[in-house]
Amino acid sequence: MASNAFSGIAEQVKLDLLSATHLQDNINKRKEVSRTFISDTITVPTPEMYQYATLATLGDDVYFEPSTKALEDHVAKITGKEAGLFMPSGTASNQIALRTHLLQPPYSVICDHRAHIHKYEASGAAFHSGAAVLPLIPSNAHHLTVKDVKDNMILSSDVHFAPTEVVALENTLNGTIFPQEEIVKISEYVHSQGKKMHLDGARIWHVAAETETSLKELCDPFDSVSLCFSKGLGAPVGSCLVGTTAFIAKARAFRKLFGGGMRQTGVFAACAAYALTHNFPLLPSVHALAKKLEAGLEEIGVDITSRAETCMIFYDPTPIGVTYEEIGDRASQLPEPLVLGGSRVVVHIQTSESAVDAFLSVVRELAEEKKRAGFVRPEPSTANGNIYKDVYVRRLPKST
Ligand SMILES: Cc1ncc(COP(=O)(O)O)c(C=O)c1O
Repeated sequence: MASNAFSGIAEQVKLDLLSATHLQDNINKRKEVSRTFISDTITVPTPEMYQYATLATLGDDVYFEPSTKALEDHVAKITGKEAGLFMPSGTASNQIALRTHLLQPPYSVICDHRAHIHKYEASGAAFHSGAAVLPLIPSNAHHLTVKDVKDNMILSSDVHFAPTEVVALENTLNGTIFPQEEIVKISEYVHSQGKKMHLDGARIWHVAAETETSLKELCDPFDSVSLCFSKGLGAPVGSCLVGTTAFIAKARAFRKLFGGGMRQTGVFAACAAYALTHNFPLLPSVHALAKKLEAGLEEIGVDITSRAETCMIFYDPTPIGVTYEEIGDRASQLPEPLVLGGSRVVVHIQTSESAVDAFLSVVRELAEEKKRAGFVRPEPSTANGNIYKDVYVRRLPKST
């Protein structure tokens, strides 16, 4: 019989977080996701994915959880690597990969100036690994070339410099596809210097789908690859880092050290497996929808600053006299609102075609209003002001 004191504590501890309207709330959330263009990280698990996840094994992953181990082995196999490691996030996966490659400072890591590891991981390479990041602007304004890497890699033993130990590429990068021939050239050069290649392959799935290239071929030039399940593939959580057995054993130790040793991860592994089986095949239609959106925007007169090579488009509405704020505000006032960011538009497996049509209608309507108000499209400038107009202009959605 519980004492009064214990009953009182149990009363304080308990929580029912299901609101009276939780079922309807989730129906509404699914609708909102289908009309949200800010990222593919907002994709949500489907009832079928949840159903499959409940059947996963119940082990503790610090002691090797069977479903998680099966996922790791599978991802290692399809990427042609010896071993895999389930990670809580893409950031953890990239940063632990760098930490595992980097042994003794001083050292530097080369990447594209737009790379996630440089711009959006809170300077984690400096914090976790004591590494300097050398962000390069690709000379062709699309992807780094072997010349860009050669010209900037620090190989000198001069004590004034931090030698480059890792070249970290990203594919896709802002939705663009890194030509595989160039990756192979970079890899051959980097390896000839005894240095390492890491790939942030958060969306490598999109490259495989779009170019019909095997994951193994795409990953072959790299010593380590991080692949995410929680973005374009629509799983709720997780990434997988792959590499040699020795590399992954060391990364496992760093994952624990950084507090990322997780316990009953079987449900997450099963969601990832479900996503690989059922959601990967949806990517070609995602890319087709992105291309439809791009064609519609172009037809209205908007500048496309980074093309829909996969699931992302970057655009600039200045030529039609409209701002991102005007588009976002108008879209948020629709009877069925759209959620838009700034220059970046992301199409994902749960984007509805009607949302794409609604987005185009908003832009078209604003363009026509501006024209009626006397706006005249300026002549395209020949002075190349900024070749990096595809830099991500963020317009955060108003909080709901
Ligand atoms: C290319 C890329 N790499 C890594 C990450 C980091 O993933 P996470 O948000 O799971 O840490 C993201 C996140 O969107 C990403 O877009």
